[in-house]
Amino acid sequence: VAEHALDRDCTTLSRHVLQQLQSYSPEAQDLSAIMNRISLAAKLISRRLTRAGLVEGALGFTGEVNVQGESVKKMDIYANDVFISVFKQSGLVCRLASEEMEETYYIPENCPLGRYTLLYDPIDGSSNVDINLNVGSIFSIRQQQGNDVDGEAKDLLQSGHQQLAAGYVLYGPSTVLVYSIGRGVHAFTLDPSLGEFILSHEKIRIPEHGPIYSVNEGNFWQWEESIRNYIRYVHRHEGYTARYGGALVGDIHRILMQGGVFLYPGTVKKPEGKLRLLYESAPLAFLMAQAGGRASTGKQEILDVVPDKIHARTPLFIGSQEDVALVESFIQERV
Ligand code: AHG
Ligand code: MN
Ligand code: MN
Ligand code: MN
Repeated sequence: VAEHALDRDCTTLSRHVLQQLQSYSPEAQDLSAIMNRISLAAKLISRRLTRAGLVEGALGFTGEVNVQGESVKKMDIYANDVFISVFKQSGLVCRLASEEMEETYYIPENCPLGRYTLLYDPIDGSSNVDINLNVGSIFSIRQQQGNDVDGEAKDLLQSGHQQLAAGYVLYGPSTVLVYSIGRGVHAFTLDPSLGEFILSHEKIRIPEHGPIYSVNEGNFWQWEESIRNYIRYVHRHEGYTARYGGALVGDIHRILMQGGVFLYPGTVKKPEGKLRLLYESAPLAFLMAQAGGRASTGKQEILDVVPDKIHARTPLFIGSQEDVALVESFIQERV
């Protein structure tokens, strides 16, 4: 038993990546090092969140409005800077794009072209930060293929199939990091006494169907009629239950573990919805596909969407195969 417990406690994220790839190639080492830096970012943000109410200047608004038109929280900026700091002098990630930055951020020093690009949502569910409810971070790793063409980061405007790795951190009662490098979905739980993320759930699979539907019903009259018809259907039928936390990462983690579907539909006024493709929907779609689930815009697979700009938004229907298919059948009026 001792052997097993010790071995499990040594299954850190960086080692797990190498085990997954069964290789010590330079690419494998890169991905392992990148995941190690991501876990450092997660630890720094988790530490700040855990003590936020006690740290001067950790909570509240900055008074700024970001490129999304949202009021920026101090934690948004802190977390945004954490990801930049952990990749400086790493020689790994040369270019970062995030919800909180209008333009791509370059790490010029010792970072040759052709390395990696990080797309991230530093704090997801910011509205939960000041009320001590769960928030998350979302990340997506791609190969940096080329230079920008006249400032337009064409290199970033690729489909979700280009992702090498993706995942999220859920800052909840425990801090859990869920990731995939294309070989299944695995979760690590932060052991604060060790300061390490330890493997806690391997090869997570989402059930084919689940009881949960997760949507902000406050938007009911903003949706297309077909979405209202889907909601009427689940209201009428036994076996459904509503859960909505207002923070995508927490809502998705529940769906991943228990099955069901999360919806953020477009509205007549904003057909593209609220959630952003490159650092929210695409990384989560990558994970969900790896766990045996699906993610759709309602009309096509999220992973097939090629954005026209960094902060492009898309409707999102994500979760169990059967439940996403049912939503689509209403959208495509096949019912
Ligand atoms: P973020 O805090 O990164 O801006 O994301 C907020 C998103 C997402 O976390 C959540 O699912 C959604 O906003 C909630 O939107 P509504 O309040 O409109 O339901
Ligand atoms: Mn935001
Ligand atoms: Mn978000
Ligand atoms: Mn955010």
